[in-house]
Amino acid sequence: MAVALIVGASRGIGFELARQYRADGWRVIATVRQLQHADALLELGCETIQLDVANVEQCAALGWRLDDERLDVAILCAGVYGPRTSGLETPTQAEFDTVMHANVLGAMRLLPLIGPLVVNGKGRLAVISSLMGSMGQRGSPSGWLYRASKAALNSVLVDSALTFGPQKAICVSLHPGWVRTDMGGDGADLAVEDSVAGIRTTLAGLRAADNGKFFNYDGSALSW
Ligand SMILES: NC(=O)c1ccc[n+]([C@@H]2O[C@H](COP(=O)([O-])OP(=O)(O)OC[C@H]3O[C@@H](n4cnc5c(N)ncnc54)[C@H](OP(=O)(O)O)[C@@H]3O)[C@@H](O)[C@H]2O)c1
Repeated sequence: MAVALIVGASRGIGFELARQYRADGWRVIATVRQLQHADALLELGCETIQLDVANVEQCAALGWRLDDERLDVAILCAGVYGPRTSGLETPTQAEFDTVMHANVLGAMRLLPLIGPLVVNGKGRLAVISSLMGSMGQRGSPSGWLYRASKAALNSVLVDSALTFGPQKAICVSLHPGWVRTDMGGDGADLAVEDSVAGIRTTLAGLRAADNGKFFNYDGSALSW
C-alpha cells in the first residue's frame, strides 16, 4: 500500500490532501498541532501524530516515530501567513519568529528527517510554498514577511533536492493556487478539492529531471 505523510493536516489544504489520498486507498500518516483536531482524520482512517513544527522536541520525536518508514509521498503543508501588511511595515520580533519558525525553521528541522524516508520509497517530497515567494514573478510587496518566508522555504527545498535527488527522491516546491481556505479566504479562486487534485496529479507525474523545481498545482513550471 502506498504511504503518504502530510505535515499540517488539521484543516485546509493539508486536510484535503489526507482525505484524497485516503479515498484513493493510501495509508496516510497525518500530523496535527493539536490532538483535538485529529478526530476527523482518524474517522478517515488516517494515522495521526501530534506535531507543532515550531517545537524542536516534537520535530525530533517525529523522526523517532517514523523510524524506518518508506514514504511514497511526503508533503510539508503547515504554514502561517502572519501580518497582512501592504507595504514595508517592519514585523515585530514575535511576528517574525512565528512566521519564520513555522514556515522555514520547521522545514529545516523536518526535511533532514523525512528526506531519507522518501529515499527509502523512491518517492516524492514536496513543500507547499507560494507564488508569493517567487522573486522573478513579484509585482507587489504585500505580505512581505510571508513572501520572505516562502522564498527561504524555496531555498531549503533546493538544498534538499541536491541532497536527496541523487538518491532517487524527487523534491519539489509547489504553489497550490489561491485556494479557499482559512488562509486564502472566501474570495480565493480555487476550491480546495481542485487544488489538491492538481497537486496529487502533479506529484504523480514527476520525473527525475523535475527534482529541485517549482511547480504550480496544475503542473506548469514556475520561475523562482
Ligand atoms: N490558501 C492559499 O491560497 C495558499 C496559497 C499559497 C500557499 N498556501 C500555503 O499552503 C499551506 C496550507 O495553507 P492553507 O490555505 O491550508 O492554510 P490554513 O487553512 O490556514 O491551514 C494552515 C495549516 O497549517 C497548520 N500550522 C500552522 N502553523 C503550524 C505549526 N507551527 N505546526 C504545525 N502546523 C501548523 C495549521 O494547523 P492548526 O489548525 O493547528 O493551526 C493548519 O493545519 C500553507 O503553507 C500556505 O502558506 C496557501
